[in-house]
Amino acid sequence: ERVGVFQGGGLSSLALGVWLREQGADAHHYVADLGQSRPEEIEDLAGSLRASGLPVTVVDLRPRTAEIGLELLRHQARHDGGYWNTTGASRLVLVEQLSRVLRADGRTVLAHGCVGGGNDQRRFATYAREFAPDLAVYAPWTDPAALARFPGRAAMVSAVKDTGLLLDRGSDADRSTDATLAGASHESTALEDLATPVDDRSLAPRWSAWPGEAPAAARTVTVGFEAGRVVDVDGSGADPVAVLETARDLGAGHGIWLRDVVERRIIGTRCRGVYEAPGLEVLDVAWQRALEVCLDPRARELYGTLAPLLGAAVYEARYTTPAAVAARAAVEELVRPVTAVVRLTLHRGFARVAGITAPGVGADQQTRFGSGGNRWR
Ligand code: ARG
Repeated sequence: ERVGVFQGGGLSSLALGVWLREQGADAHHYVADLGQSRPEEIEDLAGSLRASGLPVTVVDLRPRTAEIGLELLRHQARHDGGYWNTTGASRLVLVEQLSRVLRADGRTVLAHGCVGGGNDQRRFATYAREFAPDLAVYAPWTDPAALARFPGRAAMVSAVKDTGLLLDRGSDADRSTDATLAGASHESTALEDLATPVDDRSLAPRWSAWPGEAPAAARTVTVGFEAGRVVDVDGSGADPVAVLETARDLGAGHGIWLRDVVERRIIGTRCRGVYEAPGLEVLDVAWQRALEVCLDPRARELYGTLAPLLGAAVYEARYTTPAAVAARAAVEELVRPVTAVVRLTLHRGFARVAGITAPGVGADQQTRFGSGGNRWR
């Protein structure tokens, strides 16, 4: 069997690499650059795999990640507590894109390191059936032999360190961070205790400043929308990667990011996660105002009903099912009138609307203060 490993650089995927090597498998590692870390960190990870005799190819999936990231905003595809579904979205991107690369390389097995019983194992299985029915899926952390070798995260840490592999800075025996350029999710033993507050003892944010440590001076920036698309963030231009990176850096710098959530998992259990999506949080404040101003009220109502469906579709790996496809098409139609420039003021954990100009919206559509008459059609 020729195995293609989805190598994220987190603890369980690196341990998967060690396990496959111990089995003498013909395994090639695919490191997807989803914007989860700085480019040099991705190179260092690839270098450490190579140096340990594990062959590796780096695949740049930032463009697709950014495209889907902006869809999450446009579709308002969130899960419990406003979580932006960045992990569910990355599973779609990984399987959709890497399965092509694996196939082109003649790989017959897709291996990933997600632990048993979680959402991600489901998502990989579902998307693999859909995008790569020709590839077998190997998930070692459901394999009793692999589990006997690595009974827990501590065993994985020592094997990974002994092999000389470079572990992602958000991952160790007690912590796990899953990130893309659109956002990061943090889980840990400490956070599992619902009495643990989110602070710098329980959490190391991937990009973001704590609100209290963000600059004392507020900053005002602009977000441009054209026909329902973000076309600029403070001079970024319309390229989705540049849009999301610029928005992320602005939000992260000003402490706009934190969601502390106890969420329902696919199988019905609950878990606590802390979510960091500074770019989407900032863009959403501008987006909401643009919707309020640019959409016909009935259109906005319909748009609002589609969001929970799309949020669940991303969370539960049903992004390409008929209902999700139809809802996505409807959203694209509904948001087309959104053309506006929104000014936002960013300050210590908050983004506030400072103003909006929307050329397509006339004064005749506005209620005049004191007149009582709503002249919106
Ligand atoms: N609970 C989130 C989800 O299912 C994130 C899961 C992965 N997070 C992590 N830190 N490994 O989408």
